Amino acid sequence: MANTILVGAQWGDEGKGKIIDVLTEDADIVVRYAGGNNAGHTVFIGKKKYVLHLVPSGILRKNKLCVIGNGVVVDPIGLVDEIKGLRKLGIKVGDNLVVSETAHVVFPYHRELDAQREVLKGKHKIGTTKRGIGPAYGDKAARVGLRMNDLINPARLGQKLSLRIRENNEVLKAFGAKPLSFKKVLAEYQTAGRYLKPFVANTVVLLHDAMRHGSDILFEGAQGTFLDIDHGTYPFVTSSNTTAGGACTGSGVPPNHMDRVVGVMKAYTTRVGEGPLPTENAEISDLLHGMGREFGATTGRPRRCGWFDSVATRHATMVNGIDDLAVTNLDGLDTVGTIKVCVAYQYGKTRYDFVPNDIQTLAECSPIYVEFEGWRTPTSKARSWKDLPPKARTYLKAIAELSGTKLFIASVGPAREQTIFV
Ligand code: GDP
Ligand code: IMO
Ligand code: MG
Repeated sequence: MANTILVGAQWGDEGKGKIIDVLTEDADIVVRYAGGNNAGHTVFIGKKKYVLHLVPSGILRKNKLCVIGNGVVVDPIGLVDEIKGLRKLGIKVGDNLVVSETAHVVFPYHRELDAQREVLKGKHKIGTTKRGIGPAYGDKAARVGLRMNDLINPARLGQKLSLRIRENNEVLKAFGAKPLSFKKVLAEYQTAGRYLKPFVANTVVLLHDAMRHGSDILFEGAQGTFLDIDHGTYPFVTSSNTTAGGACTGSGVPPNHMDRVVGVMKAYTTRVGEGPLPTENAEISDLLHGMGREFGATTGRPRRCGWFDSVATRHATMVNGIDDLAVTNLDGLDTVGTIKVCVAYQYGKTRYDFVPNDIQTLAECSPIYVEFEGWRTPTSKARSWKDLPPKARTYLKAIAELSGTKLFIASVGPAREQTIFV
């Protein structure tokens, strides 16, 4: 399958985990390249549900190598828990998982600062996952972060952490928050460092060696295009490059080794946290929540829901270079009589065919919709294109075309077999 980058084309939770699991069958290596344990990727195998936060979803298949790349920020306590949790469920985690020695480490002061900054922002908060992601990437850019090769070196960890705790405790005190105990944090992180040491390696050299030997790599995006630090709805974004370019910088595999970009989108739109969502709609939100769907995989928060926004997905096709499209959750629309799709935004007298960069403008845009007749038939048992109701096929073809890309997969349920290759 050559080297494939898979990205979320909306605001995260598009069903990347499910599609990664399906595509991993033909890959040798799965690489996470951005984000941290703010991600929650759900995979069903039979009736068993797995939610992956840091470990690539490929871990659930036998004989696949999983890599946490240099672009990821790793909460080592979270990673140890995740590895132990997977092992308890009977999943092998050993030499099939490798963590980059240059991936940055998330510390308790990052989590605490994340929470404190949100409180200070009050009603202007981002609605973060409070996993310390923003402050950890902030330290990376400010060149005061610690990396995995610091974590696994106990003496160096102590020396560097001492300075970081001293500085961050001053900041925490200014917030009125409790300072952290250096001794306690050091002990916890040394223990995690010992546990994780066998997993830590030079993943850039490893990936290039593997490519020389003909391995095919699948790059597992986290979050979504509109949560990208550069291309998203700033400041209501996460702190990494979640778009396709991030796969190169976050793994050390250069652009000329990338063969294909797959974009994942829901048949409608969801978002967790604050920030503009032009097609947000109470009716579809109530419908999906009523079905017990669209609750966050990491924080359990109800996701905000809306109609499919093709202005956004067209933009996603542009910035990611999406070659092939996977549409998930088609079955979520099975009972809807009239389905709306946003084709442009209206802002005063201006019509936008692209996503305006000014966040205030975007927040005040009204969607211009076209309507599709619903198919009002269950689709979850469909296994091939011809099994789908004709109106569902029309809808899928239309949203792919409006998104400026080619339909490749339609997903009609969370399970592997509920995947239709078009
Ligand atoms: P990710 O973060 O992009 O991996 O997505 P999440 O796992 O956070 O959220 C997607 C949710 O949709 C999960 O609960 C999946 O099991 C579920 N899912 C994925 N594809 C489908 C589908 O086609 N139909 C239904 N009903 N659920 C799906
Ligand atoms: P996956 O990989 C959906 C959102 C948060 C918040 C913003 C910033 O499962 O698609 P952060 O904690 O990163 O500083 O939060 O980004 N967010 C996600 N929303 N899916 C995710 O990951 C997300 N990761 C972060 O809700 O709005
Ligand atoms: Mg998710």
